[in-house]
Amino acid sequence: MSNVLVIKTSILGGYSQSSKLIDEFVDGFTTKHPATKVVVRDIGAEPLPYLDGELVGALRGGDAELTARQQSAAALSDTLIAELKAADYVVVAVPMYNFGIPVQLKSWFDLICRAGITFSYSETGPKGHITGKKVLVVTTTGGAHRNTATDLALAHAQAVLGFVGMTETTVAYAEALNMGPDAQEKGLASARETIKAFLSTI
Ligand SMILES: Cc1cc2nc3c(=O)[nH]c(=O)nc-3n(C[C@H](O)[C@H](O)[C@H](O)COP(=O)(O)O)c2cc1C
Repeated sequence: MSNVLVIKTSILGGYSQSSKLIDEFVDGFTTKHPATKVVVRDIGAEPLPYLDGELVGALRGGDAELTARQQSAAALSDTLIAELKAADYVVVAVPMYNFGIPVQLKSWFDLICRAGITFSYSETGPKGHITGKKVLVVTTTGGAHRNTATDLALAHAQAVLGFVGMTETTVAYAEALNMGPDAQEKGLASARETIKAFLSTI
Protein backbone atom coordinates (compact mmCIF):
# COMPACT_ATOMS: atom_id res chain seq x y z
CA MET A 1 0.00 0.00 0.00
CA SER A 2 1.28 3.47 -0.90
CA ASN A 3 0.91 6.66 1.07
CA VAL A 4 0.06 9.80 -0.86
CA LEU A 5 0.44 13.22 0.74
CA VAL A 6 -1.44 16.03 -0.98
CA ILE A 7 -0.62 19.66 -0.27
CA LYS A 8 -3.34 21.91 -1.69
CA THR A 9 -2.47 25.57 -1.52
CA SER A 10 -4.99 27.50 -3.61
CA ILE A 11 -6.95 30.33 -2.02
CA LEU A 12 -9.67 30.00 -4.65
CA GLY A 13 -11.67 27.20 -3.03
CA GLY A 14 -14.08 25.55 -5.46
CA TYR A 15 -12.70 27.64 -8.36
CA SER A 16 -9.15 26.35 -7.94
CA GLN A 17 -7.65 24.81 -11.05
CA SER A 18 -4.74 23.21 -9.18
CA SER A 19 -7.10 21.56 -6.67
CA LYS A 20 -9.26 20.26 -9.54
CA LEU A 21 -6.24 18.74 -11.31
CA ILE A 22 -5.00 17.23 -8.05
CA ASP A 23 -8.42 15.70 -7.37
CA GLU A 24 -8.30 14.10 -10.82
CA PHE A 25 -4.85 12.72 -10.04
CA VAL A 26 -6.00 11.30 -6.70
CA ASP A 27 -9.06 9.73 -8.38
CA GLY A 28 -6.80 8.11 -10.97
CA PHE A 29 -4.40 6.91 -8.31
CA THR A 30 -7.01 5.41 -5.99
CA THR A 31 -8.89 3.79 -8.88
CA LYS A 32 -5.67 2.02 -9.80
CA HIS A 33 -4.66 1.29 -6.20
CA PRO A 34 -7.79 1.30 -3.99
CA ALA A 35 -5.79 0.55 -0.83
CA THR A 36 -3.87 3.82 -1.08
CA LYS A 37 -3.80 5.99 2.02
CA VAL A 38 -4.30 9.62 1.00
CA VAL A 39 -3.58 12.45 3.42
CA VAL A 40 -4.83 15.84 2.22
CA ARG A 41 -3.53 19.06 3.74
CA ASP A 42 -5.57 21.90 2.31
CA ILE A 43 -3.51 24.79 3.60
CA GLY A 44 -5.34 27.21 1.33
CA ALA A 45 -8.50 26.50 3.30
CA GLU A 46 -6.77 25.99 6.66
CA PRO A 47 -3.64 28.18 6.66
CA LEU A 48 -0.58 27.41 8.72
CA PRO A 49 1.00 29.99 11.03
CA TYR A 50 3.62 32.08 9.27
CA LEU A 51 7.17 32.29 10.45
CA ASP A 52 7.96 35.29 12.65
CA GLY A 53 10.51 36.24 15.25
CA GLU A 54 8.87 34.11 17.93
CA LEU A 55 8.26 31.01 15.84
CA VAL A 56 11.71 30.89 14.27
CA GLY A 57 13.06 30.24 17.76
CA ALA A 58 10.77 27.22 18.06
CA LEU A 59 12.18 25.49 15.00
CA ARG A 60 15.88 25.86 15.67
CA GLY A 61 16.15 23.57 18.68
CA GLY A 62 18.25 24.54 21.70
CA ASP A 63 17.54 24.58 25.40
CA ALA A 64 15.44 27.74 25.68
CA GLU A 65 12.04 27.30 27.27
CA LEU A 66 9.33 27.61 24.63
CA THR A 67 6.23 29.76 24.85
CA ALA A 68 2.86 28.06 24.31
CA ARG A 69 2.73 29.43 20.75
CA GLN A 70 6.24 28.16 20.05
CA GLN A 71 5.37 24.72 21.44
CA SER A 72 2.33 24.53 19.23
CA ALA A 73 4.33 25.55 16.11
CA ALA A 74 7.07 23.04 16.91
CA ALA A 75 4.47 20.28 17.32
CA LEU A 76 2.81 21.26 14.04
CA SER A 77 6.17 21.28 12.27
CA ASP A 78 6.90 17.79 13.66
CA THR A 79 3.50 16.58 12.39
CA LEU A 80 4.03 18.04 8.91
CA ILE A 81 7.49 16.47 8.68
CA ALA A 82 6.14 13.11 9.89
CA GLU A 83 3.45 13.25 7.17
CA LEU A 84 6.15 13.94 4.62
CA LYS A 85 8.40 11.14 5.82
CA ALA A 86 5.52 8.66 5.75
CA ALA A 87 4.59 9.52 2.15
CA ASP A 88 5.72 7.56 -0.90
CA TYR A 89 4.14 10.13 -3.20
CA VAL A 90 3.94 13.85 -2.52
CA VAL A 91 1.65 16.10 -4.57
CA VAL A 92 2.14 19.84 -4.22
CA ALA A 93 -0.02 22.57 -5.74
CA VAL A 94 1.96 25.58 -6.92
CA PRO A 95 -0.42 28.26 -8.18
CA MET A 96 1.23 31.51 -9.19
CA TYR A 97 0.05 34.52 -7.21
CA ASN A 98 1.74 37.83 -7.98
CA PHE A 99 4.68 36.05 -9.55
CA GLY A 100 5.34 33.90 -6.51
CA ILE A 101 4.04 30.94 -4.53
CA PRO A 102 1.03 31.35 -2.21
CA VAL A 103 2.01 32.54 1.27
CA GLN A 104 0.32 29.40 2.55
CA LEU A 105 2.84 27.23 0.67
CA LYS A 106 5.68 29.42 1.91
CA SER A 107 4.50 28.72 5.46
CA TRP A 108 4.51 24.98 4.79
CA PHE A 109 8.07 25.27 3.44
CA ASP A 110 9.07 27.30 6.50
CA LEU A 111 7.69 24.62 8.81
CA ILE A 112 9.24 21.63 7.01
CA CYS A 113 12.72 23.11 6.48
CA ARG A 114 14.39 22.14 9.77
CA ALA A 115 18.18 22.07 10.07
CA GLY A 116 19.38 18.69 11.29
CA ILE A 117 15.98 17.12 10.58
CA THR A 118 15.02 17.64 6.94
CA PHE A 119 18.38 19.02 5.76
CA SER A 120 21.91 19.52 6.97
CA TYR A 121 24.99 21.35 5.83
CA SER A 122 28.47 19.91 5.58
CA GLU A 123 31.78 20.89 3.94
CA THR A 124 30.37 19.51 0.69
CA GLY A 125 27.22 21.65 0.83
CA PRO A 126 23.59 21.05 1.78
CA LYS A 127 22.09 17.59 2.02
CA GLY A 128 18.36 16.92 1.97
CA HIS A 129 17.02 14.16 4.20
CA ILE A 130 13.55 13.70 2.68
CA THR A 131 14.62 11.28 -0.02
CA GLY A 132 13.02 8.48 -2.02
CA LYS A 133 9.75 10.34 -2.68
CA LYS A 134 8.03 10.60 -6.02
CA VAL A 135 6.80 14.15 -6.30
CA LEU A 136 4.10 15.60 -8.53
CA VAL A 137 4.05 19.39 -8.70
CA VAL A 138 0.86 20.84 -10.18
CA THR A 139 1.54 24.40 -11.19
CA THR A 140 -1.12 26.79 -12.48
CA THR A 141 -0.69 30.24 -13.94
CA GLY A 142 -3.09 32.78 -15.41
CA GLY A 143 -0.53 34.05 -17.89
CA ALA A 144 2.26 32.40 -19.88
CA HIS A 145 5.54 32.13 -17.96
CA ARG A 146 6.79 28.66 -18.77
CA ASN A 147 10.56 28.59 -19.36
CA THR A 148 10.86 32.35 -18.98
CA ALA A 149 12.52 34.52 -16.33
CA THR A 150 9.13 35.08 -14.66
CA ASP A 151 8.48 31.38 -13.97
CA LEU A 152 9.28 32.14 -10.36
CA ALA A 153 6.66 30.19 -8.42
CA LEU A 154 7.73 26.88 -9.95
CA ALA A 155 11.43 27.72 -9.58
CA HIS A 156 10.96 28.57 -5.90
CA ALA A 157 8.95 25.42 -5.18
CA GLN A 158 11.40 23.14 -6.97
CA ALA A 159 14.36 24.76 -5.21
CA VAL A 160 12.90 24.15 -1.75
CA LEU A 161 11.66 20.64 -2.52
CA GLY A 162 15.08 19.75 -3.95
CA PHE A 163 16.85 21.32 -0.97
CA VAL A 164 15.16 18.92 1.46
CA GLY A 165 15.82 15.97 -0.85
CA MET A 166 12.78 15.76 -3.11
CA THR A 167 14.59 15.87 -6.41
CA GLU A 168 12.51 13.34 -8.35
CA THR A 169 9.85 15.76 -9.50
CA THR A 170 7.26 15.60 -12.27
CA VAL A 171 5.70 18.93 -13.19
CA ALA A 172 2.13 19.09 -14.47
CA TYR A 173 2.03 22.58 -15.92
CA ALA A 174 -1.30 24.32 -16.57
CA GLU A 175 -0.49 27.72 -18.02
CA ALA A 176 -2.35 30.60 -19.63
CA LEU A 177 -5.51 29.73 -17.71
CA ASN A 178 -6.75 33.33 -17.76
CA MET A 179 -5.94 33.98 -21.42
CA GLY A 180 -9.27 32.94 -22.89
CA PRO A 181 -11.13 29.63 -23.24
CA ASP A 182 -8.89 28.14 -25.95
CA ALA A 183 -5.69 28.89 -24.08
CA GLN A 184 -7.21 27.59 -20.86
CA GLU A 185 -8.30 24.35 -22.47
CA LYS A 186 -4.84 23.88 -23.95
CA GLY A 187 -3.16 24.64 -20.62
CA LEU A 188 -5.32 22.18 -18.70
CA ALA A 189 -4.98 19.51 -21.40
CA SER A 190 -1.20 19.74 -21.21
CA ALA A 191 -1.23 19.30 -17.42
CA ARG A 192 -3.66 16.39 -17.73
CA GLU A 193 -1.34 14.69 -20.24
CA THR A 194 1.51 14.88 -17.74
CA ILE A 195 -0.70 13.57 -14.94
CA LYS A 196 -1.85 10.68 -17.14
CA ALA A 197 1.74 9.82 -18.05
CA PHE A 198 2.73 9.99 -14.36
CA LEU A 199 -0.17 7.71 -13.40
CA SER A 200 0.91 5.21 -16.04
CA THR A 201 4.21 4.78 -14.16
CA ILE A 202 2.48 4.00 -10.87
C1 LIG B 1 -4.18 36.97 -6.09
C2 LIG B 1 -3.83 36.37 -7.44
C3 LIG B 1 -2.65 36.74 -8.05
C4 LIG B 1 -2.32 36.20 -9.29
N1 LIG B 1 -1.13 36.53 -9.86
C5 LIG B 1 -0.78 35.99 -11.05
C6 LIG B 1 0.50 36.28 -11.64
O1 LIG B 1 1.32 37.00 -11.10
N2 LIG B 1 0.78 35.72 -12.84
C7 LIG B 1 -0.09 34.88 -13.47
O2 LIG B 1 0.23 34.38 -14.55
N3 LIG B 1 -1.29 34.57 -12.92
C8 LIG B 1 -1.64 35.08 -11.74
N4 LIG B 1 -2.84 34.77 -11.16
C9 LIG B 1 -3.71 33.79 -11.83
C10 LIG B 1 -3.54 32.40 -11.21
O3 LIG B 1 -2.23 31.92 -11.40
C11 LIG B 1 -4.55 31.44 -11.81
O4 LIG B 1 -5.84 31.91 -11.44
C12 LIG B 1 -4.36 30.00 -11.36
O5 LIG B 1 -5.46 29.26 -11.82
C13 LIG B 1 -4.27 29.92 -9.84
O6 LIG B 1 -4.29 28.57 -9.42
P1 LIG B 1 -5.53 28.06 -8.56
O7 LIG B 1 -6.72 28.17 -9.50
O8 LIG B 1 -5.25 26.66 -8.22
O9 LIG B 1 -5.66 28.96 -7.37
C14 LIG B 1 -3.20 35.29 -9.93
C15 LIG B 1 -4.40 34.94 -9.29
C16 LIG B 1 -4.71 35.45 -8.05
C17 LIG B 1 -5.98 35.03 -7.38
